[in-house]
Amino acid sequence: MEVVYWEGQRLVLLDQTKLPHQTTYVTCSHYQEVAEAIYSLKVRGAPAIGVAAAYGCALAAFNYRDDLGMSLEQFLDQAGRELLATRPTAVNLRWALERMNDVYQNIREKSLENVRSGLLEAALQIHDRERKLEEKMATFGASLVPPKANILTYCNTGALATAGWGTALGVIRAAHNDGKNVRVFVPETRPVLQGARLTAWELHGAGIPYTLITDNMLGYVFLHEGIDLVLVGADRIVSNGDFANKIGTYGLAVLAKYHQCPFYVVAPSSTIDLNLKEGKEIPIEMRDPREVREIRGQLVSVKNCAVLNPAFDVTPHDLVTAVITEKGVLSPPFKKSIKSSFDEEGAYR
Ligand code: MRU
Repeated sequence: MEVVYWEGQRLVLLDQTKLPHQTTYVTCSHYQEVAEAIYSLKVRGAPAIGVAAAYGCALAAFNYRDDLGMSLEQFLDQAGRELLATRPTAVNLRWALERMNDVYQNIREKSLENVRSGLLEAALQIHDRERKLEEKMATFGASLVPPKANILTYCNTGALATAGWGTALGVIRAAHNDGKNVRVFVPETRPVLQGARLTAWELHGAGIPYTLITDNMLGYVFLHEGIDLVLVGADRIVSNGDFANKIGTYGLAVLAKYHQCPFYVVAPSSTIDLNLKEGKEIPIEMRDPREVREIRGQLVSVKNCAVLNPAFDVTPHDLVTAVITEKGVLSPPFKKSIKSSFDEEGAYR
């Protein structure tokens, strides 16, 4: 099932807010509709957001008209800023928009038609690149999964989150395809239930054995079910290996450490932000309080009560066993392994 695709002069997105009960698509014919879809989590997951934003930028070129009172460059700049502002933690969004801007700078003297086709081509390439490198990550990661492993994951890191194969869930899928007989524990992932709604749905579809748990069962599961490894994705990994991921990941990492359980982070190198040294520098997205007070639009607490709703938390690198990217398995000390994984193509970023 395609999560994000281009059709004619429009971007089509699988509406993840409706899953698992309805499979509906939204069609965006203006970049602002793409920005809204990213903000409202119709498309979500760090790599998928990057891919959608790249197409959003191409779409902006198709939206441009000379009578808008600004140049094409100014219009693309405005589109880039609006897309970037939708979700501040996932660095893939910035990464993709920077790639698109680099491409634009190389073709800016060309005709509007050529700029449009050049930017669309660049977005298609970003999408294709994500798909290919996720398969590599999955292969590296699957080699670390022992047979008959009980795996704990978090949030949704599958095809839905990446518009490709998946990061942590891609590793699980590859291990399952290798005949490793894995069983997956899926925390529901409050507040918006990416685990219960999306990961369970993907695992069900792939025929991979899984058990749904509520987030407050994590300690019980470590104690009584025997977890062999934890596999999570990331929204931003910084130079020293600290990383941001869905709120609750930090607590999960602390539990894994206490239970001496390997804890792996799976992410493409577009999720690595070498501009930041430590996790405390990562901006954390704060979301609408209604996501916490309500479940699927149904009030479950006191109307208008005070709420804290950070979408992500930061896990320090000393709780991480290894980071798996398309370049290989990066081990501590991460400052060194992450940097050297970029040395060959550092200029690319
Ligand atoms: O708020 P979301 O659903 O976009 O959060 C997604 C996550 O936290 C994922 O774990 C992360 O983006 C990595 S997905 C490959």
